[in-house]
Amino acid sequence: MGNRRPLIAGNWKMYKTGSEAVETARQLVKLVEDVTNAEVMIAPPFTAISYVSDIVRNSRVSLGAQNLFWENEGAYTGEISSAMLVSAGCKYVIIGHSERRQYFGETDETVNKKIKAAIASKLIPILCVGESEKEREGKNTFSVLDKQVTNGLEGFLVNELETLVIAYEPIWAIGTGKTATSDQVQEVHLFLRSLAEKKNGNMLAKSIRILYGGSVKPDNVTELMGLPDVDGALVGGASLDAETFSKIVHY
Ligand code: 13P
Repeated sequence: MGNRRPLIAGNWKMYKTGSEAVETARQLVKLVEDVTNAEVMIAPPFTAISYVSDIVRNSRVSLGAQNLFWENEGAYTGEISSAMLVSAGCKYVIIGHSERRQYFGETDETVNKKIKAAIASKLIPILCVGESEKEREGKNTFSVLDKQVTNGLEGFLVNELETLVIAYEPIWAIGTGKTATSDQVQEVHLFLRSLAEKKNGNMLAKSIRILYGGSVKPDNVTELMGLPDVDGALVGGASLDAETFSKIVHY
């Protein structure tokens, strides 16, 4: 796995009020005090980010956001910019999650603009890709992923992508309790790394972190993290409870 530092990230989606988020973050900070084998990140909803930022400061837990808009500021009702996220204490931002593609009209083109904005602000983008059940059954998994990665990362210089994280989240495994098998995960992660190598060269392919997401739980994380091209996990449901998430972090 080279010198890629594993990242275990919790995507809280649209869960937790400010006070609930603070409570969970407080518990988590304590529970992961001893963790050195991986970086831990949580992405609370926007309304909780500033509160959680105060809790995780100087702890083992990094802060992320679940989305951003690519303009710096302006008349864009309801949107949040990368500069706002940085000033609120975020280090990471999740971009192009399948739920945003499915329900909020995100495309590879908007994903590309968002990654550009994130990198310009020195936020670490987590680009989410993944195929639907139908696409997998139709044997289109690799062409779908190729398109999402190629279009999402179009127009970048190699050195701009140094910090990039890719999260492979098969849509059929999200929130369903169905995890992809180890063979399926490793096959896709290797494919994604070779794709990065083809487009951006060996150095980037070696440094890029590729996370798996989709029903990651304390009882399947060890096997997933043991796969050669898995550099971490993006956890939804199981990240909402500090003790459960801490077990995943201590894989
Ligand atoms: P679950 O862990 O709930 O399947 O969600 C995965 C996910 O979408 C993380 O971004």
